[in-house]
Amino acid sequence: MERPINEDISQQLEQPKPKIYLPEVREFIVNDSFLKWGIEQLKEIDDDGNTLRHSQRITNLGYRLAKKLNFSEEKEYDFLEACLLHDIGKISTPASILMKPHDEFTDEDMEVVRKHPREGKEILEMQGRSPRVCNAVLLHHEFQKKSYPALGAEYREIEDIDVDNARLLAMLDVFDTVVFGRQNIEPVPEEMRKITWMKQFDQKGDEEIIDFFLSQYETINNLSKP
Ligand SMILES: [Fe+2]
Ligand SMILES: [Fe+2]
Repeated sequence: MERPINEDISQQLEQPKPKIYLPEVREFIVNDSFLKWGIEQLKEIDDDGNTLRHSQRITNLGYRLAKKLNFSEEKEYDFLEACLLHDIGKISTPASILMKPHDEFTDEDMEVVRKHPREGKEILEMQGRSPRVCNAVLLHHEFQKKSYPALGAEYREIEDIDVDNARLLAMLDVFDTVVFGRQNIEPVPEEMRKITWMKQFDQKGDEEIIDFFLSQYETINNLSKP
């Protein structure tokens, strides 16, 4: 599994342009050789870099969210790692499925896609990452009403703090998909973003989170421009 870190990624991260990461996020990555290795894996998932850009935007917004919620330094670190690498399990998902429109998925395609949270967790476990990161990755599709949970009720066995992280990660994941789309999902028009997101999350406090995400949209969008 272990592969040498590509020198390119270090150079790309250290260059002032393109500014794909907030400065604090860039510093967090540059100083951690495992995260740089993880980014290399994300680059292998698809030819057009869609998964890597999705991860970049979520990590930038995740950093802003962690600051808003006053995470401890350790919790913030684990949360950002989970944001960055949450879809690393897609390394074993065939490109033909990643590119296929969601509404054309067969039951077999869905079975393959549903594996990525568990495979992501296994990759991170093999690399000795913290349980909080591994569990957030495992659970990142468990909270979305119209998604593909891999576990169902089983997630309730995992400590509250991990569920908390995973739910926030799920919120970021859905926000990014609604606003920016994915290879196989069209972005939602601006006036529909909030309502589309709220259909997935409707617990107390969720509206405050989406309002915060929307307030950060320009920053995240500007960073993600080529
Ligand atoms: Fe995912
Ligand atoms: Fe994702």
